[in-house]
Amino acid sequence: MNQSINIPLPGNIKLTVKREDLLHPHISGNKFRKLKYNILEAKKEGKSALLTFGGAFSNHIAATAAAGKEYGFSTIGIIRGEELVNKIGDNPTLTFARDCGMMFKFVTREAYRLKSDSHFIKALQAEFNDFYLVPEGGTNPLAVKGCQEILSDGDKEFTHIACAVGTGGTIAGLANAAMPHQKVIGFPALKGEGLLDDIRKFAPNGNLELITDYHFGGYGKVTEDLIVFINDFFEKTGIPLDPVYTGKLFFGVIDLIGKGYFPENSNVLLVHTGGLQGIAGMNKELLRKKLPIIKT
Ligand SMILES: Cc1ncc(COP(=O)(O)O)c(C=O)c1O
Repeated sequence: MNQSINIPLPGNIKLTVKREDLLHPHISGNKFRKLKYNILEAKKEGKSALLTFGGAFSNHIAATAAAGKEYGFSTIGIIRGEELVNKIGDNPTLTFARDCGMMFKFVTREAYRLKSDSHFIKALQAEFNDFYLVPEGGTNPLAVKGCQEILSDGDKEFTHIACAVGTGGTIAGLANAAMPHQKVIGFPALKGEGLLDDIRKFAPNGNLELITDYHFGGYGKVTEDLIVFINDFFEKTGIPLDPVYTGKLFFGVIDLIGKGYFPENSNVLLVHTGGLQGIAGMNKELLRKKLPIIKT
């Protein structure tokens, strides 16, 4: 569903939000798109378990756990951070995933870095038997294929398509599906080198650009300005944003409109990729730091 945004903007710029966050209550936004063909493939291969990777607040972990419950797979989450083993109850994402039936293996940050290493995967196979492996963030060729379905024929009118970027699968799908006259703009939620090369592996010819000025200090980091923006945007539009991905994207696009980045009369589509489950965990952190919390 596309929702027009009626806030005063310079340059006769039109903003529309693609509400992918409304696709499913727990497998929201790009997670639904990324898991769709992977789940079909896992069924085709006769697998009964899905194994994947993520951090303590990962939208992907929550969505995979929910998808496993809904589509009849057991789920295994390899979680970054050994210290979390006795803190599941303090963490809304892990509590949700556990309640969906996900089994966890907590690993050190060093071990977690080996998540694509064939020896590490072999050891996981020995430990958990046969599973269908979904990479961190859910990004693989089948996920990109699913993300290509975010855009439909009615979206041809847009001049720019903007999305948040983590592992790059979503923007790759959008870039593959966009028309030649459309520019796809990605806002990385993390500081990182080599992201464009990763995206190009999945979208070699896409008309895309990364804008790297709106990570707010890095992955999972927020500032008071960002929280104030998220609350203000929600109040004006009724659209909730998450602090890790979509909040940074929307802040960036509106800031760039003010700075004259978009040509006059641009028709911009912002893809809301969900992630709202992360608000509860972030609010716990914000309360601890005595900062304003995200209103929902
Ligand atoms: C809510 C949300 N938006 C955007 C992204 C970025 O997607 P990708 O990893 O495909 O770049 C993620 C992470 O996967 C996410 O959870």
